[in-house]
Amino acid sequence: MLDKRSTHNRLLRTLQGELTDSPPLWLMRQAGRYLPEYREVRANVGSFLELCGTPELAAEVTLQPLRRFDLDAAIIFSDILIVPYALGQQVEFVKGEGPKLDPVTDGKAIAALDRKDTEKVFAPVYEALRRVRAELPAEKALIGFCGAPWTVATYMVAGGGSKDQAEARALAYSDPEAFAALIDLLVDVSAEYLIEQVKAGAQVLQIFDSWSGSLAEDEFARWSIQATKNLVAKVKEQAPDVPIIGFPKGAGPSAIPYARRTGIDAIGCDTSLPVRFIADNLQNLMPVQGNLDPVLLMAGGEHLDRRVKQILEVLGDRPFVFNLGHGILPETPPENVSRLVSLVRNK
Ligand code: CP3
Repeated sequence: MLDKRSTHNRLLRTLQGELTDSPPLWLMRQAGRYLPEYREVRANVGSFLELCGTPELAAEVTLQPLRRFDLDAAIIFSDILIVPYALGQQVEFVKGEGPKLDPVTDGKAIAALDRKDTEKVFAPVYEALRRVRAELPAEKALIGFCGAPWTVATYMVAGGGSKDQAEARALAYSDPEAFAALIDLLVDVSAEYLIEQVKAGAQVLQIFDSWSGSLAEDEFARWSIQATKNLVAKVKEQAPDVPIIGFPKGAGPSAIPYARRTGIDAIGCDTSLPVRFIADNLQNLMPVQGNLDPVLLMAGGEHLDRRVKQILEVLGDRPFVFNLGHGILPETPPENVSRLVSLVRNK
């Protein structure tokens, strides 16, 4: 599936278990509000969803961070909540308040979710991927993504971001059958979405399980690990050679069974995982990605330099993708990102 041109692509090679001249580097949420050129594009569209649904603009903001910084990959500009939107749920991004959805709180509302418009909503994302791939040099990888079923469900059930994801956890305890129907629907639609992203040019996929850390042990096994395993298996049936990075944020030591059992090719590590733990328990299983504190990237200074060197020392001698432990913060000075890139490159 990978053509010859990808030989010099650091991210692809690392995810295949090779060592490269320097570890590949990209940043979660690397396109976005910390960049003035993003804010300019954003100011000229009515809504965030309109930006995601306009291929020319989505492709433009996807490429912006690569024009400024020597990063190894572009991640397609979209959002994990495009999936509930495609299922007919109302989704809005309210400035300063985050996403607002019309909550899906019981079996009846879950049964009413409808797949008939998914193609229409996803098509602009595929077109944006084709445009980005056509402009990207061969040594830069293109990443597609979706939210993990559990994380997307937390927003669908609560109607937005929520404290401790209590609404979704409560529904999963009180009506596990209805909740399982929601998770299974998300597995199916997300698999189709990721497979089509690959057909449109995505070479690597990441599954964001941003709220896996709120699940208790048995529920983590069922709603995070098992759902991700089902999703990965479906994608691998159609796209066996495309590496998948799983990002179970907040999983703590449960990252180990997650890495072992989901079928992913590499694991994204959040800031709370000690680098020694990552080296000893995860990097022995597969390539790892992470885990600089986004707040430290924002703060900058000598502490940033020291920490980047320490991460590289512990994780850099085996397959490792340099990234943050969570998304870049809007207040981050772009100069700090330049500094980070030169630290990783000059190792
Ligand atoms: O990484 C990238 O550069 C690609 C784009 C991307 C966005 N969201 C763009 C975005 C990706 C990969 C995401 C993933 C995402 N979205 C996650 C998983 C990663 C994580 O951060 O845990 C989650 C939980 C969401 C849901 C979401 N989208 C929230 C909670 C918010 C509001 C908070 C905020 O940062 O504003 C969004 C909106 C959003 N998604 C913005 C961007 C650039 C800001 C909207 C704007 O510019 O108006």
